[in-house]
Amino acid sequence: MTNAPKAPWSGERYWSQRFLLNDSPWELGKPSGVVLEAVSLLSARDVSLAGSSVLVPGCGTGSDALALARAGAHVLAVDWSPVAVERLGEKLGAAGPLAGTLEVRRCDVLTADLGVFDIVVEHTFLCAIDPSQMPQYAKAVSAACRPGGHLVGNLFLLGESDLSGAPWRSLTKDGVGPPFGSSERTIRELLGGTFEFLELKPARSPDPDRRPGIEWAAVLRRLELG
Ligand SMILES: C[S@@+](CC[C@H](N)C(=O)[O-])C[C@H]1O[C@@H](n2cnc3c(N)ncnc32)[C@H](O)[C@@H]1O
Repeated sequence: MTNAPKAPWSGERYWSQRFLLNDSPWELGKPSGVVLEAVSLLSARDVSLAGSSVLVPGCGTGSDALALARAGAHVLAVDWSPVAVERLGEKLGAAGPLAGTLEVRRCDVLTADLGVFDIVVEHTFLCAIDPSQMPQYAKAVSAACRPGGHLVGNLFLLGESDLSGAPWRSLTKDGVGPPFGSSERTIRELLGGTFEFLELKPARSPDPDRRPGIEWAAVLRRLELG
């Protein structure tokens, strides 16, 4: 055990404050193109969103979650920030009928028992948590994904030379705090015990405002054991 103080971004207040200050550059105002790309890679493997149960951990104000519910998925969107959850609730109220369903819940993704889903959708959640919590992330998404189910989404990955031997690095201008980029090797080590990697490659449709080459489309299948 360590007595090191918790990083501010390991607490809900840090994130709520950023939402309140509109200091939320991760919000694209639309679903992530890379998430949609990963979903289409999944549907090319005959796995459809429609009718699937989907978890969106660290959903923020939920552009991805809403798009998935519009596409017919039964979505649980989870975030610990009451500001994010309230804003997503407002969007949901204004959204009109959905082909699927969307439930929004406020809790800590890394400790809550959220149930088991067909698909877990990742977008700027892993890069937002403190790197010391990456094993907890792996445990949480592995528990939330049924055997044979999928983890899909957008991962921020750097080349090994960019990391100078470290497993991750802050991508901010001053080199402190989220988002954190890691590497393909780190991700494979983190999730390879419980997932098979079906696709992990630089995105074809990255966001033009993000650092080029950093967004990777991922499709992983949950192993039966582990
Ligand atoms: C960078 S934002 C991404 C939000 C959303 N995925 C998006 O792309 O718009 C990270 C989100 O994760 C949430 N978060 C961070 N750690 C969390 C935790 N342990 N449990 C639940 N939510 C968490 C924050 O409140 C924040 O909304």
